This record gives sequence, structure tokens and C-alpha cells, in this order.
Amino acid sequence: MTWLVTGGAGYIGAHVVAAMREAGDDVVVLDDLSSGDPARISDVPLVTGSVLDGALVGRTLQEHAVDGVVHLAAKKQVEESIRRPLHYYRENVEGLRVLLEAVTDAGVESFVFSSSAAVYGAPDVELVREDTECRPVNPYGWTKLIGEQMVADVAAVSGLRHADLRYFNVAGAGRAEWADRGAANLVPMVFRQLDARQPPQVFGADFPTPDGTCVRDFIHVADIASAHRAAARALEERRIDSLTANIGRGEGVSVREMIDLILDVTGTAGEDWAKPVVMPRRPGDPARVVAAAGTLRDVLGWAAEHDLEDMVSSAWAGWVARRPQ
Ligand code: WQD
Repeated sequence: MTWLVTGGAGYIGAHVVAAMREAGDDVVVLDDLSSGDPARISDVPLVTGSVLDGALVGRTLQEHAVDGVVHLAAKKQVEESIRRPLHYYRENVEGLRVLLEAVTDAGVESFVFSSSAAVYGAPDVELVREDTECRPVNPYGWTKLIGEQMVADVAAVSGLRHADLRYFNVAGAGRAEWADRGAANLVPMVFRQLDARQPPQVFGADFPTPDGTCVRDFIHVADIASAHRAAARALEERRIDSLTANIGRGEGVSVREMIDLILDVTGTAGEDWAKPVVMPRRPGDPARVVAAAGTLRDVLGWAAEHDLEDMVSSAWAGWVARRPQ
């Protein structure tokens, strides 16, 4: 089985490509290298270009006799999506439309779509289930919800088998060189503060949560990758026709708890200058977003294997490895 992984040279993409190769799949990557790094995927064919280039996508599907697609290529920074909504609609929605057109023209039968917990917006529930109402609160979340609808509508007329995987808060690195370089999420943002000998910043400590800080569901990127592999295998073996599933651990962890763990792992817990400072809330942050994580377990027999300490220590190893020597 040959899979095209769009965005396969990215942070999550490199982990997904490795998991699929380890499972014996042939993989080809399409990536525009806007944030991807070819060095992450040296052992698979790389087609450099955008999913917006329909002719290139069609040639790639043909030349590599692609049977299935894992679509990861997208812009994913919430704050940027608010500043540049049309850029996000072009890259994430028009890009998906062009890709789906090429996929259906080529008769590709399996499609794994990278979705996000951002489709839920600010859910006011203890655990977010897949049937929790989806009310995105930013353009990024809307591009993912619209994407899910596009995939479902194409599947309804083409028989495309698909899995929409809604990631919660991704952290960690399977290998130091694959670490997230985006630095637009909690863990790398705290690393950046510590590198500058500045205190970690807590965006709001007056939320209705046990310690007043936001609660999230952190999941190791290697677990995200194994979930993609499990979904791809189920599609290939026709065990599922359509699946929408959360990828989380089902365990709420507060910002303060995460920062305390980061201070322990980085050896700065005792430093006065590293004591976290509370800042005003960030607009749009929900108090709690934690997955009901049973669907993937029940349908695919998948379970997350990595804990918070794995996530923080592997992310830190990747961060340190990237420092200018
Ligand atoms: C987490 C919490 C911040 C930095 C992301 C994105 C998107 C999606 C879901 C994939 C928030 C707080 C952060 C800091 C802080 N994933 N924070 N100090 O906003 O939960 O959602 O994950 O599609 O990537 O939507 O992630 O890491 O930005 O913030 O207090 O220096 O940490 O306020 O409560 P978020 P995040």
C-alpha cells in the first residue's frame, strides 16, 4: 500500500511518515517546505510543492500509484488565523478542495484528514466527545470543521473511505531533530522564556478550574503518529468507512502543572528568576478542553503510550539540540 503524506516534512508529518514506514508502508511526501524540513524524511521520496497545485498532486498520485492519502499539510496557528483569515481559508480549505479533486479523479480510496480540537471552540463540558457541538471560535478551527464537511460530502458521492482525527494539544518529539520549531504553543513558548532567563508566562489564573489556570489534554506526537497509522490500516483493510475521532489522553492537565513539570525537567525549578508570572488572559482561551478518548480505543484498539514526562523531556532534548552551538 502506498500512501501520500501531505505535509510529511513537518513536525507531525515526520512522525507519521516514520510510523507508516515502520509498519511496512510505502510512503511518498508532498510538502511545500514552508515550514517542513527535508532532513526529517531523508528515506522517502519528497515532491516539493503545494496541495494547491492540482496538476502536481495528480501527477504525484499517478506516478507513485498512490492508494491512500494522509493530509497533514495546513496552517495551524490560531493567532495567525485571526490576523490572516483568507490565507488560512486558501491554504486549508482551497488546498483541501484541490487535493480532494485530484484524489477522486485518481480513484484514491482512503483518506486520513488531520483535524483539530479547535473545531469544538470553547466546549463547556468535562470531557469533549465527538458528538459535542462544534462551535469554532477562530478561523483556524473553522477551516478544520469545514474540511471535515468537505471530506464527508465527497465521500458520500465517491465512496472515499475517510478518518477525521481531531488532535488535542500536541507536544514532545520522537527524535530530537523532529522537534516542533513553531514555538507557538505552551511548551516551546516556555522554553523560549527560560532560554532568555525570563519567567514563564501564565495567560490568566482566574479561570473556573482547580488552580485557576486553563486545563488541556496533552498528547505526545508519537501517539498522534501511531493513531494515524492505526486509522490508515483500518481504512486500507476496509474495517471502517468513515470515522471521526479525538486524539487525546483523556486527562486534563493545567497550565501551571505543565509549567511546573517543565521547570523540573529543565532544572530551573529552584531559580527565583524562573518563577512563573501571571499575565492577562489570552482572548478566546477556553478554561478546559479535554478529550473523551474512547473512540479510537473502542474502534481501532489504539491507546496513547507516552506520559507528560516523556512529552516534556523529549521536547526539551529537541529544543536544546537546536540551539546554535
Ligand atoms: C495552551 C494553554 C494558553 C503559552 C492549540 C491550538 C492548536 C490546536 C489545539 C492542533 C492556553 C496557555 C500558552 C504561554 C500560557 N492543535 N499558555 N503561556 O490554545 O490550547 O490550542 O492546540 O490543531 O495548536 O489551537 O494551545 O499551547 O497555545 O495554549 O499560559 O506562554 O497554555 O493560554 O491556555 P491551545 P497553546
